[in-house]
Amino acid sequence: MNTIITGATKGIGRATAEIFAQQGFNLALVARHSEDLQQLKQDLESKFPVQIHIFPTDLAQKEEVLRLGDLIKTHWDTVDVLINNAGIFIQSEMLDEDNGLLENMMNINLYAAYHLTRYRTYDGGTRERTYL
Ligand SMILES: NC(=O)c1ccc[n+]([C@@H]2O[C@H](COP(=O)([O-])OP(=O)(O)OC[C@H]3O[C@@H](n4cnc5c(N)ncnc54)[C@H](OP(=O)(O)O)[C@@H]3O)[C@@H](O)[C@H]2O)c1
Repeated sequence: MNTIITGATKGIGRATAEIFAQQGFNLALVARHSEDLQQLKQDLESKFPVQIHIFPTDLAQKEEVLRLGDLIKTHWDTVDVLINNAGIFIQSEMLDEDNGLLENMMNINLYAAYHLTRYRTYDGGTRERTYL
């Protein structure tokens, strides 16, 4: 079973990656920092006999989300599970906050999940098979 997990290096995403690896799922792990991804890959591969691919990606950038979809396709024909876990919440005062703060949160929390879900489930005939 091929599983994409975004925001996989910390918190809920990391715990999910550990459980899925333990269950024998192959993983495509996504976060921005490649050193964290590399370390997680080594850690999981040392414990479980699974195939792990890592994809350093800034999900706030639409082009990077679409490129991620393309890169995953070079490894897998199908995706069985897509876990859109990555997300941020930065609390602030609307009138004082930095320009672009809300857009950045929306890009990661909403649009990245939207584009990746459309791209990896409705493209390539996998629509019936992907659990979201
Ligand atoms: N923890 C809670 O109590 C709680 C409550 C409600 C909802 N949630 C939601 O649950 C999800 C996980 O929360 P968490 O607390 O486990 O998160 P977390 O510990 O802050 O981890 C966030 C993960 O997302 C990655 N990430 C952040 N920005 C990214 C970006 N622009 N592009 C790609 N990856 C990015 C981080 O890695 P990099 O920094 O390397 O990119 C990291 O792997 C989030 O969507 C959060 O909103 C959490």
